[in-house]
Amino acid sequence: MADVRPPGGDVAVEGELAIETRGLRKTYRSVRGRRVGVEDLDLQVPVGGVHGFLGPNGSGKTTTIRMLLGLVRPDRGSATIFGHDVPRHLPDVVGRVGAIVESPTFFPAFSARANLRLLADGIEAPRERVDAVLDDVGLTGRARDRYRTYSLGMKQRLAIAATLLKDPDLLIFDEPTNGLDPAGIHEIRRTMRDLGDRGKTVLVSSHILAEVEQVADTVSIVARGRLVASGRVTDLISGQGGAAVRVVVAPDDVAIATSLLASRGLVARHEDDALVVEGADPAGVNRMLGEQGVWAREIAPRQVDLESVFLGLTQHETPGGRDHRGGRRRRRRDAEPPVEPVEPAATPAATSSGTGRADGGEEA
Ligand SMILES: Nc1ncnc2c1ncn2[C@@H]1O[C@H](COP(=O)(O)OP(=O)(O)OP(=O)(O)O)[C@@H](O)[C@H]1O
Ligand SMILES: [Mg+2]
Repeated sequence: MADVRPPGGDVAVEGELAIETRGLRKTYRSVRGRRVGVEDLDLQVPVGGVHGFLGPNGSGKTTTIRMLLGLVRPDRGSATIFGHDVPRHLPDVVGRVGAIVESPTFFPAFSARANLRLLADGIEAPRERVDAVLDDVGLTGRARDRYRTYSLGMKQRLAIAATLLKDPDLLIFDEPTNGLDPAGIHEIRRTMRDLGDRGKTVLVSSHILAEVEQVADTVSIVARGRLVASGRVTDLISGQGGAAVRVVVAPDDVAIATSLLASRGLVARHEDDALVVEGADPAGVNRMLGEQGVWAREIAPRQVDLESVFLGLTQHETPGGRDHRGGRRRRRRDAEPPVEPVEPAATPAATSSGTGRADGGEEA
């Protein structure tokens, strides 16, 4: 697993983590026995910047977030927010956390400003914050309009505004761009980026990688409830793909090109109508082929994005599988003892989370 580092800094140490989980596990009862929501999850989210929490549908992102917020009780493992054990000491840190999990609720007939004023009063945030947070999310011009006249993107931005009322240091957004159009996605992304640039820590979950790639400084990738990779986006991409060249030759030349490259120690694999040569540069490949009379019709460095890294990681992921460097996954033997059974805390981000249920559905 790559080290998680703060953006532009050194390897994070304990004290610099906004969120840390160790050996976190959650199973649910289902008609076919136990279903694993999260399995032995070690998560490290550095302080400051945007951290993407990525994984396919059903990989345990929401379950993890709900455990962090005290909405679902873990079976075992431990979690801290700014060094405080949660859920046990959540009340000590809850003032520094704002979260949106699933859809928040507002009064449809009230304006955005009226809704936020009510919430501000409820959490004893100063009323001046209301206009400030509306401005933060770009809703000042629509602040007097009724909530029910808002577009989906505006509703989502209002939800973010609500989480900002108490000026939290950590923001947790579970799939905040779900259902939004490209313009809405762009707005939310810009809001998250602004928050990260202002030194806030933003944990944003998503199953859409391209979306997060553009905004996240660091990411954790989960599959089937387990961490499969984490680190800076740039490191993951360069560490995974490295240099690669995509070359197209005449169909008759494919076999000879492959063996020519193999004779130089390069493996060329077929991808559509092209050969992809890992660990090579276009000029070198062009020269090798040209010297033997094989001419490239197209040749270009192959772009590696987070999506291909992610697919490469999650396709091979099996329980107890390998990390993204191909090494055996580290299993934590030094995990903290299981957390004491405690009553789940009230929704810490009651400002905006409409998911006050503390039972987490059919919990095991
Ligand atoms: N309340 C529940 N009762 C039973 N099973 C659950 C419950 N909540 C989640 N699960 C199961 O736990 C696993 C992880 O679900 P979770 O919602 O955490 O995934 P996710 O990564 O958030 O997915 P998505 O991208 O679809 O939001 C899934 O198999 C899911 O069916
Ligand atoms: Mg989810």
